[in-house]
Amino acid sequence: MREYAIATIPADGIGPEVIAAGTQVLESLQKRLSDVKFHFKNFDWGSDYYKKHGVMMPADGLATLKKFDAIYFGAVGAPDVPDHVTLWGLRLPICQGFDQYANVRPTKILPGITSPLRNVGPGDLDWVIVRENSEGEYSGHGGRAHRGMPEEVGTEVAIFTRIGVTRIMRYAFRLAQSRPRRLLTVVTKSNAQRYGMVMWDEIAAEVAVEFPDVTWDKMLVDAMTVRMTLKPQSLDTIVATNLHADILSDLAGALAGSLGVAPTANIDPERRFPSMFEPIHGSAFDITGKGIANPVATFWTAAQMLDHLGEAEAAARLMRAVERVTGAGILTPDVGGKATTKEVTAAVIDAIHSSN
Ligand code: NAI
Ligand code: MG
Repeated sequence: MREYAIATIPADGIGPEVIAAGTQVLESLQKRLSDVKFHFKNFDWGSDYYKKHGVMMPADGLATLKKFDAIYFGAVGAPDVPDHVTLWGLRLPICQGFDQYANVRPTKILPGITSPLRNVGPGDLDWVIVRENSEGEYSGHGGRAHRGMPEEVGTEVAIFTRIGVTRIMRYAFRLAQSRPRRLLTVVTKSNAQRYGMVMWDEIAAEVAVEFPDVTWDKMLVDAMTVRMTLKPQSLDTIVATNLHADILSDLAGALAGSLGVAPTANIDPERRFPSMFEPIHGSAFDITGKGIANPVATFWTAAQMLDHLGEAEAAARLMRAVERVTGAGILTPDVGGKATTKEVTAAVIDAIHSSN
């Protein structure tokens, strides 16, 4: 029996709805496979916790999480708490504290889901975006002076280090190498940003030498939005900075049909710490409590978690079940269907049990 301790942090908005669905699906997978066991422990951290205790998680939160094999995360954000408080209070401290420097965001058009792009169907758009997740524009370096005065200044400094850029490039080249097309696009903005981004390009070229079997090219981030929209077939693996990849992956999610299907993994490739798996979307106040949140992103990120834990077969089984359900048209309203979160979840559980 292979056993895994998984910390669940559903947090805010639709987070608890989709994490409950994901946990049920993982439990059914455990029943089906009989040689894996998940031990879930739930943490009630997030905006409600903040309103009671003045912090999003306890001071020893990271020490508690460190003992787990993986973290399964919902979403943070509440209408009545500033977004920078919720984000910097929970999600970013986990990503940074556990040095989860590779943020891996697969996107493809699942069967039964329609892309807003005309003439683009399953197979035409199958990407993995690798986002640098520890530095760059979100390093937290900056400050404000002369608050409220006419001469007030605010700085937000992007930090690029040779170590940080080299390790994310190696991760991206290795991932590209593991995919059938062995194709990597390095996103940059080295025409306008002359220091960090030029170093990013130079390091990409250095690391590329280690991977002679990977074909790679460079794109400026603005032109990249055009290529993603007009020539989605020309892309496979993509690597970009923290900010650039944040924006590009929302676009990728939308082009693949909905944010509700887009997953993400925050990985510590060296496995010193637990990695964290979550849907890309936020807490979606507009649909919270309505029972119609799309759980597919949360299922897909569970498959990423299984892959990371070395359970590739279970991961593949889960994705086959999800694709069977989307292919059968059992879809939530965000992707044009009428099903509820519970109906999609039940259908995926059925598919897990009825497949061989
Ligand atoms: P959002 O992702 O919560 O929602 C954007 C739109 O997509 C909404 O119309 C929502 O209904 C829809 N949507 C999102 N997930 C869906 C799902 N699973 N099924 C169906 N429809 C779905 O982004 P928004 O509105 O910008 O932010 C809301 C809150 O979430 C804010 O407080 C924000 O800071 C936070 N947020 C948190 C993130 C995280 O925890 N990783 C990521 C993005 C936003
Ligand atoms: Mg984002």
